[in-house]
Amino acid sequence: MSVTNLPRGSTSASAGVPPTKVTMPALAEMKRQGKPIVALTAYDYPTSRLADEAGIDLILVGDSLAMVVLGQENTLAVTVDEMIHHTRAVRRAVHRALLVADMPFGSYHGSVSEGVANAIRFVKEAGAEAVKIEGPRVELVRALSEAEIPVVGHLGLTPQSLHRMGGYHVQARSMEAALQLKADAHALALAGAGALVLEGVPREAAAAITADLPIPTIGIGAGPDCDGQILVFHDLVNLTFAPAAKFVRRYADAGALIRTAIEHYREDVEHRAFPSDEESYHLPEAARQALEASLAATENASALRKA
Ligand code: KIV
Repeated sequence: MSVTNLPRGSTSASAGVPPTKVTMPALAEMKRQGKPIVALTAYDYPTSRLADEAGIDLILVGDSLAMVVLGQENTLAVTVDEMIHHTRAVRRAVHRALLVADMPFGSYHGSVSEGVANAIRFVKEAGAEAVKIEGPRVELVRALSEAEIPVVGHLGLTPQSLHRMGGYHVQARSMEAALQLKADAHALALAGAGALVLEGVPREAAAAITADLPIPTIGIGAGPDCDGQILVFHDLVNLTFAPAAKFVRRYADAGALIRTAIEHYREDVEHRAFPSDEESYHLPEAARQALEASLAATENASALRKA
């Protein structure tokens, strides 16, 4: 047992974060005002609560979950049920940020109606406020918008296309590919997408798209000219067991912090330094004395029997 969900205000929530709920239209307004959108992935209650209280605008339950939380090799195997399980935990923690859930590989790659049905599950069963889908799936984005489900598009390096791309490579590296990316971005916006993640593309391509796209771009490995930025939580705090990619900035070393804490705990238990008397519960005085008397009587009786 551990008490983790004390009400807000009982922890040191960051000061100065306006409580105003972030919505998809609010993201568009931020773009209009030139205010950077701050996005982060999260997959569980404590980290998403910390992210929300720290004033993150958009929290994405990314399918990167497969790799950074479930230890899988890529994102392809994570299921809709697993994503919904984690999105529900994040939902309980997030009050201010826009909550976006990633549709996993296979959940929208068949028919449009299957994609819409799976997206509805994220809204109904998990409380997602938008879904994110990879690739220029214009027809699906239009159908989702018609079904009142806000959509975040995702273009450039789309990890669910791993096998087609032949690895995680920076995309849109030629003039033709950059123009195609721009055309895809506009098609998604026209179909109703409310925001667009641009991943693993040259800064110049992301800047050109951001300049005249009517919806906000949120970059990851796409340079500083996007309307916002997103990072994977585990990259930000170094919990990945791998060298950081070029675009990652590590703001803390939680891996080292946690490792040291666990090692100290192990040492304390091995040396009987944990728990201390102060960390133990005690009988009331009367009950303690009665217990001692009862144990002494039992010991006396057994000594007499042996004599
Ligand atoms: O799954 C994920 O974490 C993502 C972000 C990298 C945008 O899609």
